Amino acid sequence: MIDAIGRPQSLLVLGGSSEIAQAIVAKLVPARCKTVVLAGREGLRLTEAVARVKAAGADVAESVAFDVTDTDHHQAFADQVFDRFGDIDVVLVAAGVLGDQAVDEADPKAAAMVFTTNFTGVASAMLAVAGRLRHQGHGRLVVLSSVAGERARKANFIYGSSKSGLDAFSQGLADSLEGTGVGVTIVRPGFVVGRMTEGMSPAPFSTTPEAVADAVVAGIASGAAVVYVPPVLRWVFAVMRHLPRAVWRKMPG
Ligand SMILES: NC(=O)c1ccc[n+]([C@@H]2O[C@H](COP(=O)([O-])OP(=O)(O)OC[C@H]3O[C@@H](n4cnc5c(N)ncnc54)[C@H](OP(=O)(O)O)[C@@H]3O)[C@@H](O)[C@H]2O)c1
Repeated sequence: MIDAIGRPQSLLVLGGSSEIAQAIVAKLVPARCKTVVLAGREGLRLTEAVARVKAAGADVAESVAFDVTDTDHHQAFADQVFDRFGDIDVVLVAAGVLGDQAVDEADPKAAAMVFTTNFTGVASAMLAVAGRLRHQGHGRLVVLSSVAGERARKANFIYGSSKSGLDAFSQGLADSLEGTGVGVTIVRPGFVVGRMTEGMSPAPFSTTPEAVADAVVAGIASGAAVVYVPPVLRWVFAVMRHLPRAVWRKMPG
């Protein structure tokens, strides 16, 4: 159970090798999160992530094979994890791809993979784990959305719209879980300097995986519904959402 001061003792990460997820795990494990299950595509990144969790002192640090695009197996995956590890306090949803807007615009199949990964697949997996969280009667889903989903921008509308879909889905799921003991925290970071954005020029108000992790840990403790990182982006996007289309269209890449 999440303890009286908001610290989870068990964590399942969907997208266990994510850089942001690893920054979050690095803060939760020393704060008494003793069971960490990293679900993801098998490979060196996932193996190294598990090794880091073990080194940080978790009692249980294990990986489970998980492909977010494999919707046929999401329910079996969720059942396997909850049956094997018992109650899970927090499910962190970190799987996602940025894609390449120019490539994806010219190749509908490549674009579909971005949609499937970031929206359809993630939503399917969230429904599978939400069912198990509802059954156990407590817990929190923390989903890494993005400010890119607040309003689709010409320069990255494929990624942006996939995150809009995920964000809207997560809001609805949160409402449907009201009264079950299960909460949802939607995290909307801006540009995070790291692996996913490597080689790109940082956007204004850019942030770091560590800052996202601090905000997520605080959001879990307070049971926040929505977390912006950095917080000022809540107000920046309150304005951005209402800019005239003719102005919005000119926003730089
Ligand atoms: N970085 C940013 O600027 C930023 C800003 C806002 C929101 N976000 C969101 O934050 C989340 C984490 O991003 P990050 O910065 O930590 O990037 P990252 O290090 O590239 O992490 C992405 C994760 O998604 C996993 N993944 C991709 N396709 C998958 C699939 N088919 N099945 C299972 N896992 C899959 C990757 O696994 P592999 O190791 O197997 O590839 C990796 O664990 C993403 O949802 C991203 O959209 C990022």
